[in-house]
Amino acid sequence: MSKIKHKIAIISGKGGVGKSLVTVNLAIGLARNGRKGKIAILDADLTGPCIPKMMGLKGLKMEMGPEGILPAKGSEDIGVVSMDFLLPSDDAPVIWRGPLKMGAIRQFLEEVAWGDLDYLLVDLPPGTGDESLSILQLLPEMDGVVIVTIPSEVSQSVVKKAVTFARKMSVPILGIVENMSGMVCPHCGELIDVFSKGGGAKVSDEMDVELLGSIPLDPQVAADSDEGVPFIVKHPDSPASKEFIQIIKKIEKKVK
Ligand SMILES: Nc1ncnc2c1ncn2[C@@H]1O[C@H](COP(=O)(O)OP(=O)(O)OP(=O)(O)O)[C@@H](O)[C@H]1O
Ligand SMILES: [Mg+2]
Repeated sequence: MSKIKHKIAIISGKGGVGKSLVTVNLAIGLARNGRKGKIAILDADLTGPCIPKMMGLKGLKMEMGPEGILPAKGSEDIGVVSMDFLLPSDDAPVIWRGPLKMGAIRQFLEEVAWGDLDYLLVDLPPGTGDESLSILQLLPEMDGVVIVTIPSEVSQSVVKKAVTFARKMSVPILGIVENMSGMVCPHCGELIDVFSKGGGAKVSDEMDVELLGSIPLDPQVAADSDEGVPFIVKHPDSPASKEFIQIIKKIEKKVK
């Protein structure tokens, strides 16, 4: 772990808000900024791992090397460690209680040959459960967490728990990413606020955490991640990509 310069975890209150999508696009964006081969993702969502699918790596395996488990390699030589690579099939579930989950996370951190990295990004399941607790406890000298939310009041009410959780664990908060923030109607071009408006800014204000940016809901973004290609690669000129590139710049600046 001492050979890894920066460690960031991506957390949220609610599920399905776009943590994994943010993780994958952040990884590729950081790698393309002159860090090919210097980025890795730990998919710490043990029961619902989806980083391999989102990076087009389904079917790959992690091999054993002389110094430990070798991450599978994605585009830009991004290393990926995921439970998905260890399961026999897509419908095979992981049915584990807390201590087993903590053991698996510990093994991933200790027994993977991570190598010399600029960034390790950890994609977590929603909330403040076993995986999140293990990572925030076990990952030494974290630069901080990025918190993902959507603008709805329902999501806001839960995301505050994630902010307080990080503070209780004495882990810095790099900022909030508001995802699914409005959508341009493909028919008339009007902006529709699908999940209400200004939720990210409100949480940022109330909890005194920086709002790093707001990514729109975009059917193309969903299609790209289904296809296993990060949207900032497939559609670099989309509003979502332009906003995301600014978010990456802010994160790079914050961890310097
Ligand atoms: N801005 C967006 N526009 C369109 N689709 C999106 C957007 N953000 C996320 N999605 C899609 O929504 C789904 C949920 O996103 P994702 O899996 O990243 O959420 P998550 O927070 O990681 O979920 P979980 O809590 O289950 O881990 C994915 O299919 C993803 O491609
Ligand atoms: Mg996820």
